[in-house]
Amino acid sequence: MASARIGIYGLGTMGSALALNMAEKGFDVAVSNREAEWIAPFIEEAGGLADRLYPHEKLADFVAALERPRIILFMIPSGAPMDAMLREIDPLLAPGDIVIDGGNADFHDTRRRARELSVSRRYYVGLGVSGGEAGARTGPSMMVGGPLEAWQRIAPILTAIAARHDGSPCVAHLGPDGAGHFVKTVHNGIEYADMQIIAEIYGLLRGGAGLSPPEIGTLFETWNAGPLRSFLVEITAEVLAARDPQTGHPVVDVIKDAAGQKGTGRWTVIEALRLGQSASVIEAAVGARSWSSEKEVRQAAEAVLGGAAGAIVATPETLAEAFLAARLLAYAQGFRVIAAASEEYGWALEPEVIARIWRAGCIIRADLLDDIAGAFAAGAPEGELLLAPGFAERLVRHLPALRQVVAEAVHAGHPVPALSAALAWYDTMRHGHGTAGLIQAQRDRFGHHGFERLGQPGRHHGPWWD
Ligand code: 6PG
Repeated sequence: MASARIGIYGLGTMGSALALNMAEKGFDVAVSNREAEWIAPFIEEAGGLADRLYPHEKLADFVAALERPRIILFMIPSGAPMDAMLREIDPLLAPGDIVIDGGNADFHDTRRRARELSVSRRYYVGLGVSGGEAGARTGPSMMVGGPLEAWQRIAPILTAIAARHDGSPCVAHLGPDGAGHFVKTVHNGIEYADMQIIAEIYGLLRGGAGLSPPEIGTLFETWNAGPLRSFLVEITAEVLAARDPQTGHPVVDVIKDAAGQKGTGRWTVIEALRLGQSASVIEAAVGARSWSSEKEVRQAAEAVLGGAAGAIVATPETLAEAFLAARLLAYAQGFRVIAAASEEYGWALEPEVIARIWRAGCIIRADLLDDIAGAFAAGAPEGELLLAPGFAERLVRHLPALRQVVAEAVHAGHPVPALSAALAWYDTMRHGHGTAGLIQAQRDRFGHHGFERLGQPGRHHGPWWD
């Protein structure tokens, strides 16, 4: 008999945690999974919440267990598996049913699927979910893209399970089709940038100032009580304090220095470039992960080129300020990509709303986001965080520290791709007159491309064509 308010298909880490979260908030949830043998152990571990969970091995039974019109949340790998799933479930769905993809999907796929499903009057929702397992279980941040009618029906459930910041739920309908998945992608891009900035600051404290991982962990703990307060700083302190039970060494020293990536950071950069932007701090972070995975090449290069790097004299206070400045710039770039996509796809994304739903639950949650939400609410000129009142002054205040840290790092030979990208972008943007006149002259000289003259309308050519 149909009785479940929502169905969750996919009982991996995130799907299981969301199902338990919904059950705990009083919703009856039908659950299923491609590997049927995962279902029974999940129900067993659900304890008292099992009363609200309705397990089904067969897809048809799972679908039949749902109240109509149905709401089905898929928590399965993105890409081809999602397309295959949609083909499989399609004959079982009816007009008005809502299909939600809660994975880290490519928003172009989400746009296509939304179009395809709308033909048969099914609603497709691209749901960005952030916060990892703990977030999904106790309160994630959620970015919703899809038709307004669908949002109105799923809102009570998502609002009930979302993280809260000062009582306000960290979930919002951001726009149609791919808007939610796009914003989640940029969230991850900023996540990559923030993690890389942290790693670079750690590298300077370690290799440049000679501190041990636990000492650096203590510093991060201190920083987490100030303007850098954020989830990533908090877990960095915890990670750096941890010892490996096998060797007694700091855990960070026994982990191979080759970072993984599933693609969302790269998508942010690709999309930024496609939109005529450059999210250079995020790009530096994606690139640094790729270089990190070339361990053998780096080891060979160290033998040939020398791997020494000198001392850093910047104080921890200066490093903290540099960190904050770079973080501000990374966020500013992320929000520019969001603004550009909003215009390109006609989404009318509201940066203030996005900053508000990132204040709790998600991986990049940080005190700074409250200030960012405030800055957008106060009206950042041209939508530019760089120019927002309060922000511009903060940047100007902390920039000397970033400049000092990058200069020292470069001088001593420490790699700081994200910090230096942030500084280079800042320095580029604060020059109202740059060097691109020369680029235009070169283009005209070799390709007769023409250029605009300052203060004169029309297209012009240089004297080399006379
Ligand atoms: C989140 C995370 C989550 C996951 C990403 C990043 O917001 O909860 O971003 O979605 O950690 O997949 O993963 P990679 O670092 O492997 O790309």
